[in-house]
Amino acid sequence: MTAPLLEVRSLSRRYGKVRAVDDLSFAMQHGRITGFVGPNGAGKTTTMRIAATLDVPDQGDVLVDGVSVLVEPREVRMRIGYMADQFHPYPNLDVPQYLDFFARAYGLRGRRRLQTVRSVAGFCGLLGFGDRPATGLSKGMGQRLHLAKTLLHDPKLLILDEPASGLDPRARIEFRALLKELAAAGKGILISSHILPELGETCDSVVVIEKGRRVVAGTIAEIQQSVRAEQAVSMRVLRDAETAQRFLLTQPAVGDVLVDGDRLRFAFAGDDEAAAGLLQRAVASGIAVVEFARDEADLEDIFLKSTKGNVQ
Ligand SMILES: Nc1ncnc2c1ncn2[C@@H]1O[C@H](COP(=O)(O)OP(=O)(O)OP(=O)(O)O)[C@@H](O)[C@H]1O
Ligand SMILES: [Mg+2]
Repeated sequence: MTAPLLEVRSLSRRYGKVRAVDDLSFAMQHGRITGFVGPNGAGKTTTMRIAATLDVPDQGDVLVDGVSVLVEPREVRMRIGYMADQFHPYPNLDVPQYLDFFARAYGLRGRRRLQTVRSVAGFCGLLGFGDRPATGLSKGMGQRLHLAKTLLHDPKLLILDEPASGLDPRARIEFRALLKELAAAGKGILISSHILPELGETCDSVVVIEKGRRVVAGTIAEIQQSVRAEQAVSMRVLRDAETAQRFLLTQPAVGDVLVDGDRLRFAFAGDDEAAAGLLQRAVASGIAVVEFARDEADLEDIFLKSTKGNVQ
């Protein structure tokens, strides 16, 4: 079995009394887009900075493609592209000069450097901005330049700290399309964000942390399943809500049943198959079902259910 692309192992980092990251572990496979979610101060930036070799942990380690950030930080740097939560381009450099500077820093030389800068600028939609100073870009174009800088050395893993914050809806959609293209080209992407519906569309897995600790991790489908296991179903009947209530209480996976007029709400611990069976039996037993619905857990539900909103 190949090593995970990213493995965070029992990571801890304190700042004075604050446990920014507290015994955090999770792994991410190759080619995945993983959302990194948690309330303000949860420890996302701290974890990402350690993975990017910009800070060192008090305990634990981070392995990128099997390489330790503590033992071989230079090797790790060649494998990752890190996009910090703030973008401060150097003044007095235009867009190609900015990219050229970083391409040199990553050891690209001669024709190869020119070609790489051109192709990365093209991929990120920056070719028309050749004479613009890097500090004079709009937020959206600045984020494209910031992303372009992380791609120059063709890293396997992208660590993106809130890359979409401050972007307008169109810029966000365009940015998301770039990320999907990168993932399709085989790159793994760890992306933190507070824009949860958007992460749901971009990511195939999530890691939720709070107070530096892991709360939930897995594919979105797995997590939805586990949240759904405790979810409520709401059923509206044409008549005889009490009869329907008595029926429901005899059924497997059904918890408390509340009746409110013609509407019944009950906890249901079954999967889709079980829900379909329940509805079939209800209709077969003569209950006039008008509506039968369960709330789909989206990322926002997962976030609200799994975190307590403690900001540190
Ligand atoms: N250099 C530092 N010195 C002191 N405390 C710090 C430092 N960096 C982070 N912290 C603290 O560590 C905790 C975690 O911060 P971090 O920036 O990692 O959270 P975050 O999840 O990225 O939050 P946000 O969603 O607001 O970006 C916070 O309580 C923060 O105040
Ligand atoms: Mg942060």
